[in-house]
Amino acid sequence: MIIAIDGPAGAGKSTVARAVARELGLLFLDTGAMYRAVTWAALQRDVDVHAADKMGELARSLRLEFDAEGRIVIDGVPGEPHIRSSAVTHNVSYVAAHSAVRAALVPQQRRFAHPHGIVAEGRDMGTVVFPHADLKVFLIATVGERARRRAAEIGAPDAVERIRAEIERRDHLDATRDDAPLLKADDAKELITDGLTPRQVVDTLVALARAAKADPVQHGR
Ligand code: DC
Repeated sequence: MIIAIDGPAGAGKSTVARAVARELGLLFLDTGAMYRAVTWAALQRDVDVHAADKMGELARSLRLEFDAEGRIVIDGVPGEPHIRSSAVTHNVSYVAAHSAVRAALVPQQRRFAHPHGIVAEGRDMGTVVFPHADLKVFLIATVGERARRRAAEIGAPDAVERIRAEIERRDHLDATRDDAPLLKADDAKELITDGLTPRQVVDTLVALARAAKADPVQHGR
């Protein structure tokens, strides 16, 4: 079974997708981590993140794997926590906008789906990478809620405004790029998570997944 979860930055996709994968015994795939890995490698090696050809070459050259906990490993080196740094977060949307980078990563993302089922999260899971997913979910929350959650997560309640500005900037870049922009697939179920706990969101998704599995026709498959 393939479950595709998309949505804007900070909507809680990773937390929720990881828990859904655990409950359903599926593999968890954080595709944002792959774009972050390429960005981190570029910053490490002084490659210009705006140079499409060089970034494509770099993306093709990296060996990206995931450990048993679903954490990315870049050429044998654990990517956490480096890929979450503010420098990577600031630059990743430029990197993800290069078609050459996406062309290098998308086939790898599809390969991770076989032979096991998968819960994949990102921006283009339902639209581009897994258009035939058994279940597509588009998770959203207001930007204020997303900024508050992120600030609480990193223990910095006074950083809400700064985080909000960064999220808005990234959403704009991700939604307006030409190649595979952040977009709800026509057949995705939209879930607004404002005021919901992660547990409530996970329960909703697990129920949707079970329903999709029991009655694929009803879900348009
Ligand atoms: O989910 P995240 O914040 O870790 O994602 C990091 C960036 O990667 C995000 O700003 C957009 C990009 N991304 C993408 O373009 N396509 C994906 N499938 C996943 C992430």
